[in-house]
Amino acid sequence: MSSELNLILLGPPGAGKGTQAERLTDDFNLPYIATGNILRAAVRDESGLGKQAKAYMEKGELVPDAVITGVILESLNSDDARDGFLLDGFPRTLPQADALGEGLEAAERRLTAVILIDVPDKEVTRRLSGRRVSVKTGRVYHIELDPPKHEGRCDIDSSRLVQRADDRAETIAKRLAVYHAETEPLVEYYDERGLLRRFDGTRTPTEVHDHIRATIATLRLEDEL
Ligand code: AP5
Ligand code: MG
Repeated sequence: MSSELNLILLGPPGAGKGTQAERLTDDFNLPYIATGNILRAAVRDESGLGKQAKAYMEKGELVPDAVITGVILESLNSDDARDGFLLDGFPRTLPQADALGEGLEAAERRLTAVILIDVPDKEVTRRLSGRRVSVKTGRVYHIELDPPKHEGRCDIDSSRLVQRADDRAETIAKRLAVYHAETEPLVEYYDERGLLRRFDGTRTPTEVHDHIRATIATLRLEDEL
């Protein structure tokens, strides 16, 4: 078995999955596969996938397993992801986790680790209500906790920052409820399989990043030995 890094980021909405992914993909040179980003792009482009997903996303509900699973399994089999990947937002239900497990097994691959970023509901609400995202680069900010250098503009290319359609108060509450009901069971699922690594997501982005990076570096070393 090769020493590819096949990683999943797990955690409630607003835990900082996207924030950490940006740093980790740089550290480890991994292709970043984020279902939320893929679906938002599809909605924007009004593609078939976008048309199927839009109404669910606006309500803070999950799109049906059948809509998303094929898309993700296909991208894991692409040349880009052959030497490893960082998944964010998938799997999000037990059937998705089973489908991923079967897909990887068929390709004679396995997961390296599932990185759980833990954050309580109250902090999630604070984070999501102040989040802003660049329309062009996708870089994530927070108006108080991680502000851009110039208000309303991305640090990378000065593109415009916007609020996500699902970051309104009612939708945030719905997304949290869906997380606890549908996605949280994956914590036990991956713990039982010895893959779960827990991180305290209430620390600063830099502290969370340092902890995760150190753990992944150790896992990779162990794998190479
Ligand atoms: P998705 O885009 O995956 O949203 P999510 O899981 O709700 O997570 P978020 O992107 O909101 O949060 P995050 O953890 O990435 O936090 P971030 O880094 O931005 O999914 C959206 C929708 O798509 C779903 O609701 C569903 O409809 C659909 N979907 C997606 N995948 C699906 C699937 N597999 N099956 C079915 N449907 C699916 O950070 C949040 C804020 O906090 C930012 O402002 C940031 O600056 C700030 N912040 C981050 N870290 C810290 C820190 N350590 N301290 C202080 N502030 C911080
Ligand atoms: Mg995200």
